[in-house]
Amino acid sequence: MSSESFENLSYEDRTFPPSDSFVKNANAKSDIYQEADADRLAFWEKQANRLHWDTKWSQVVDWQLPFAKWFIGGKLNASYNCLDRHVLEGRGDRVAFHFEGEPGDTQTITYKQLLSEVCKTTNALIELGIKQGDRVAIYMPMIPQAAIAMLACARLGAMHSVVFGGFSADSLLSRIQDADASLVITADGGYRKGSAFALKTAVDEALKGETNVKNVLVVKRTGQEVRWGEKDIWWHEIVDKQSDQHSPEFFDSENGLFILYTSGTTAKPKGIFHTTGGYLTQAAFTHHAVFDLKAESDVYWCTADIGWITGHSYVVYGPLINGATQVMYEGTPDTPTKGRIFELIEKYKVSVLYTAPTLIRTWMKWGDEYPNKSDLSSLRLLGSVGEPINPEAWMWYREVIGNNNCPIVDTWWQTETGAIMISPLPGVTATKPGSAMKPLPGISTQVVDDEGKAVGNGRGGYLVLNQPWPSMMRGIWKEPERYKETYWSRFNNLYFAGDGAKLDKDGAIWLLGRVDDVMNVSGHRISTTEVESALVSHEAVAEAAVVGANDEMTGQGIVAFVILRGGIAAASGEVLVKQLRDHVAKEIGPIAKPRQIMVVAELPKTRSGKIMRRLLRDVAENRAVGDSTTLADPNVMKLISEGLKSGKSED
Ligand code: WTA
Repeated sequence: MSSESFENLSYEDRTFPPSDSFVKNANAKSDIYQEADADRLAFWEKQANRLHWDTKWSQVVDWQLPFAKWFIGGKLNASYNCLDRHVLEGRGDRVAFHFEGEPGDTQTITYKQLLSEVCKTTNALIELGIKQGDRVAIYMPMIPQAAIAMLACARLGAMHSVVFGGFSADSLLSRIQDADASLVITADGGYRKGSAFALKTAVDEALKGETNVKNVLVVKRTGQEVRWGEKDIWWHEIVDKQSDQHSPEFFDSENGLFILYTSGTTAKPKGIFHTTGGYLTQAAFTHHAVFDLKAESDVYWCTADIGWITGHSYVVYGPLINGATQVMYEGTPDTPTKGRIFELIEKYKVSVLYTAPTLIRTWMKWGDEYPNKSDLSSLRLLGSVGEPINPEAWMWYREVIGNNNCPIVDTWWQTETGAIMISPLPGVTATKPGSAMKPLPGISTQVVDDEGKAVGNGRGGYLVLNQPWPSMMRGIWKEPERYKETYWSRFNNLYFAGDGAKLDKDGAIWLLGRVDDVMNVSGHRISTTEVESALVSHEAVAEAAVVGANDEMTGQGIVAFVILRGGIAAASGEVLVKQLRDHVAKEIGPIAKPRQIMVVAELPKTRSGKIMRRLLRDVAENRAVGDSTTLADPNVMKLISEGLKSGKSED
């Protein structure tokens, strides 16, 4: 990113302090920053005491840069902390989930019921031979069994690897192989946009590849026809007959809890690896402080799918540890009407809503009539995550959804950080529309220049973290060198997050998007290289270059430039472009489908052969092409622009 684009952010001077009553009743008060600054480790120990530990830790942290261990010697069980504890302490009849399926079917699940379902599932996993340290792939729609499956793995000390249900069979296979999973938990399908989609068929397809998967456990959700093989077992046949009692073992604080794959700058996704004690501590603390959760009275709804880190930390672990009552919704926001989310807020009296800027912008486009049809007066706090939220969307969220009455917490974090790192505290911070404001207590960030030197207020640079934090990733699964290289080699002794950021004149942090070759499409991370290699795996394509172009709705849109192999007729243009888009969907998943594919004769390259994406981004964003003097062949950009006039394709 050029320094110019770091600097040209217009200054936003509106601020919104919390109301007096919010301040008075807030979980986190202003003195919490001083408390954490005075003794960071003591602060995190205090937060760790939110959890039930069977054995207390003997050392808070062991930091051998870049490898951290937290709460060393402590023993705990993640599932016990989410469930048993509430039941034992008399909260068993509290609702854990109000589940709403897309077709309108509902389930109310109390903590007591959730515990017995998790125990039964744990006993079923034991029958299938799953034990501590094993990896279990979970490929599910957004239904209660998805959370139940995760908690059953955690109860056994086995690691789950949740693969988002929108990923293709190929993506699923590579993740199963990389983690060497021995069990896949899935469903026949789920509901989306008014009809049933299939998941089991993708698992069948994936398992044609070489894996060590011994069983596939299948939830019957839609009743659609499925092929049945000898590894397949129906969830209801093995789970329902089990005892609903299971006494959990307590595992080491550093026992693996999960792997979650995310796109990096190469074609191979990274298996981000998290452990138990530190992760749960920060997930629980941030959920309590940032969402100001009052477990007895709030109804909390995080709209993220469990296939993403937000679903792990803020649907499953954080809220359940804190005893929250949540809404879980299976489907899309426009089914059957564009008011579905608002109807659910009214129906369940949701008080805390956590969602993504891409959805907020979509709602803005659909129009105020949809939110205005529902009574949203139960809302008292709003959250945002996944990409920078533009000030217009922030103001709309505040005015139309929050009725000017709800603090907004814009939360910055990553799969790698495990939990929220930068965010306002709703009862403390005077927020600015579009800014994530400052690091949470106990967290330390900096914005640095190319040399790794901290920049002053009013300046932009790279966002880095300069102290270890409890929920930090413990590495990339089986790739320690890649872990060091990706996050710890850009700057000395600093964690490089991959995001650009600016400090305004008051020191508030404004996130500016990725600075590496990772795109952010509707809050989903997709690597340019991954899409390029999917395109090149198609027989018609010789070479491909992919860029993320600004997109009003999705943040960034995927734009691909491809050179065809000799002998492929240019006349087959439109059909071919459709084939290529479908091919990418098949290789990676529909979320990676390019918005636009341009067939070109050449790609702009430097003399050393590096593709100059900056120039392609200019074309993709319909801008005058910038300085191209370092190109090996200065004519290329002219050729591309001319070629596009004839062969542009979009849908
Ligand atoms: C981006 C999602 C600006 C950022 C929790 C980060 C954000 C990547 C914000 C991580 C935010 C997330 N403002 N950008 N509030 N939250 N991002 O791993 O680029 O899916 O590096 O984790 O999303 O995406 P991930």
